[in-house]
Amino acid sequence: MSLPSTQQTLAITTAQGAWEVYPYPVHEPQPDEVAIKIEAVGLNPVDWKVQAIRYFSNFVKEYPAILGSDAAGVVVAVGEGVADFAVGDRVLYQGYFTNRLSTFKQYSVFPSELVAKIPDTITFDQAATVPLALATAALGLYNAGNGVGLVAPWKEGGRGKYAGQPLVLLGGSTSVGQFVLQLAKISGLSPIIATASPRNFDLVKAFGATHVIDRKLSASEIAAAVKDVTSDPVKIVYDAISLEHTQLLAYSVLSLGGTLVLLLPSLIPEDRLIADSDSKKVVIPFGNFYLENNRELGKSLYAVLRELLETGEIKASPFLRALPNPVEVLPEGLVGIVDGLARLQADKVSARKLVARPHETK
Ligand SMILES: NC(=O)c1ccc[n+]([C@@H]2O[C@H](COP(=O)([O-])OP(=O)(O)OC[C@H]3O[C@@H](n4cnc5c(N)ncnc54)[C@H](OP(=O)(O)O)[C@@H]3O)[C@@H](O)[C@H]2O)c1
Repeated sequence: MSLPSTQQTLAITTAQGAWEVYPYPVHEPQPDEVAIKIEAVGLNPVDWKVQAIRYFSNFVKEYPAILGSDAAGVVVAVGEGVADFAVGDRVLYQGYFTNRLSTFKQYSVFPSELVAKIPDTITFDQAATVPLALATAALGLYNAGNGVGLVAPWKEGGRGKYAGQPLVLLGGSTSVGQFVLQLAKISGLSPIIATASPRNFDLVKAFGATHVIDRKLSASEIAAAVKDVTSDPVKIVYDAISLEHTQLLAYSVLSLGGTLVLLLPSLIPEDRLIADSDSKKVVIPFGNFYLENNRELGKSLYAVLRELLETGEIKASPFLRALPNPVEVLPEGLVGIVDGLARLQADKVSARKLVARPHETK
């Protein structure tokens, strides 16, 4: 299939401006890149934050800015030097914050080393729920600089290596949390203690939590419930919510010598951090493998991702059909993303991924 010259995209025309369906040229792949016809894009909180919050707007350097992080589709052209992909391969990948590499569009290019083939058993809608959340979970647990630095389970000696070591996860039903659970299980971490709303307890257990605590309990009740599960030191706490109240709870649950993973800037009082600086570490991963410091981990994971998805060790959310965690396909292609992001911003999406199909744009 040859590439068309133009396509529909979804962009914000100025910093913090309105969303607009925006015609844009289709890029040809450069050496080591593949071109992908995007069949499904997954929505993430960062997509509305870049439009609405100044701190996140800084991720974008050009306007109109085409946003979007998660995509799945079909390879339609390969650049010079690409040996591992062929036209017709079904793939997923996580885009980046430039018009060339973002995903709220119908066609895009991306470095082939950060594109993963997907098994025939998962749909494009399902595959588009995976990349950003999986990257963030993996970077938080396994990256050396801005993560805990555990040996990843797909690397030599990593599988099951951390048997008997507890993990506490705040936000077990979040998109990121669901992948933290699955990875923690393959790493052998145990017990895996997560918070969630009771309606999501079964879901969170199905993804790997050994114990689930009602996230609406008070901080002291949650901390006590963790102690009831394990008297061992909790050396890894992953706060997949990272609002002020969860950060303070996470930091208090963390044992001396441990590492806390936050996903948003730290709100833990500076004097506490200084007092504990020798004994408690706080890391904040930037959940995208495209960055230089994250790339090696991403390449190694993407080399085995198809197999992990095929065996079901890593599940795209809607795999668990019996559980209340479906993928929801938004209407009207790229246009439907605007309303989907408003729902994410209003905190009206629980334990599900919103997906749009760019080629359904009228
Ligand atoms: N640093 C990075 O690179 C990075 C990467 C990815 C995400 N993030 C940030 O991480 C956060 C999570 O992103 P996401 O896409 O994973 O979220 P998400 O899937 O949209 O999160 C929705 C879930 O949050 C849960 N929740 C809300 N408040 C909670 C609380 N106090 N305790 C426990 N669970 C709570 C709800 O669980 P229940 O329905 O069970 O109550 C709901 O299922 C966002 O702020 C996002 O911007 C940062």
